[in-house]
Amino acid sequence: MQAFISSSILTNPCPRSLFPRPTTQSQLLLSSVTGARTSAATARRSVQGDGSARCVVTPASSSPAVAAAATEVPEKMKAWAYDEYGDAGVLKLDEAVSVPPVGEDQVLVRVEAAALNPVDSKRRMGKFKATDSPLPTVPGYDMAGVVVKVGSQVKSLKEGDEVYGHISEKVLEGPKQYGSLAEYTAVEEKLVAVKPKNIDFAQAAGLPLAIETAHEGLERAGFSAGKSILVLGGAGGVGSLVIQMAKQVFGASKVAATASTPKLELLKSLGADVAIDYTKENFEELPEKYDVVFDAVGQGDKAVKVVNEGGSVVVLTGAVAPPGFRFVVTSDGSVLTKLNPYLESGKVKPIVDPKGPFPFSQVVEAFSYLETGRATGKVVISPIP
Ligand SMILES: NC(=O)c1ccc[n+]([C@@H]2O[C@H](COP(=O)([O-])OP(=O)(O)OC[C@H]3O[C@@H](n4cnc5c(N)ncnc54)[C@H](OP(=O)(O)O)[C@@H]3O)[C@@H](O)[C@H]2O)c1
Repeated sequence: MQAFISSSILTNPCPRSLFPRPTTQSQLLLSSVTGARTSAATARRSVQGDGSARCVVTPASSSPAVAAAATEVPEKMKAWAYDEYGDAGVLKLDEAVSVPPVGEDQVLVRVEAAALNPVDSKRRMGKFKATDSPLPTVPGYDMAGVVVKVGSQVKSLKEGDEVYGHISEKVLEGPKQYGSLAEYTAVEEKLVAVKPKNIDFAQAAGLPLAIETAHEGLERAGFSAGKSILVLGGAGGVGSLVIQMAKQVFGASKVAATASTPKLELLKSLGADVAIDYTKENFEELPEKYDVVFDAVGQGDKAVKVVNEGGSVVVLTGAVAPPGFRFVVTSDGSVLTKLNPYLESGKVKPIVDPKGPFPFSQVVEAFSYLETGRATGKVVISPIP
């Protein structure tokens, strides 16, 4: 199927899109805004760097929601999408998805890199059906890219700014139908931040959801200087950032973390004082207790056994009994802005899984890899397309 899709892109610049004629209110809205922009614009064919052709629309005048639009933005874009819930096989590369319209508080970003999160997989499997946006869905929460259009109420960003962010304020409650695994994505100004200059788009794309989760979890747990912490799942996307943030941002007195044997050195390099090999030891049977346990694995039942009296156990997935609690991250660009100095100084480093970055054509393979549960740091997609 992958080969079929790739060859159809080369031979037919306008194949059928996964996105049907508008039927839902949101699709009608998207369609009407895009249509309005097209009618007031000049359409022409453009040859891309890869030799393929596509329609490029140069806006003749600004739409009411768009303050300035000097950058050329095509009418249609390539995006990964699915129109039914299921395993990674439901994902299809669609080259005729409408570029999302830009709300007055939003920016349109040309996505240079995106990253995958386990929640993308859980959502695609239909786990959050009741609160999901309508199908078809372009998945993806994390992105880094360049602002190509700004809404009329946008205050601090302008075209050409390099930004990164997690594009859906609430991950599970009505997440964006048009996510980041696409050439363009529209996102509220308040959810993004200017990209740290010292890291590239691929590194930046892996940060937002994971670092915001790490930050929010540590804050909710009341973590502060001088406290000790145990991080369960220290080598994963979230855990690798919890270790670094606990040490470098919050001033932990002691950081312990769990991983399998080949990843113990990584834990140490991230700042863990104690690296526990979960294939050889049960952390809940060791004598040490901690002020905070941060569980990124789903071991809440064991985590509550190793917390000091009066301490906190924060879990990201699975059940937990008091004093443990679970939360779902809220996207917030101001957290990224606050953490930028730690990234720019190199005190906190993005960890990109060495099997990647995966090219845009290999999103299915990248998801299959993420879903093994063995990723180190973040699974990143770059370049796009
Ligand atoms: N509630 C929220 O807001 C929120 C936000 C972000 C993520 N999450 C959830 O949190 C979980 C972790 O997310 P993530 O992005 O960090 O996942 P991830 O990057 O896919 O995690 C993979 C890592 O987990 C490690 N791991 C697996 N089993 C382990 C075990 N028994 N002990 C220690 N480490 C283990 C693996 O290391 P080894 O190869 O060494 O086993 C691997 O490095 C997911 O369930 C995700 O959905 C929730």
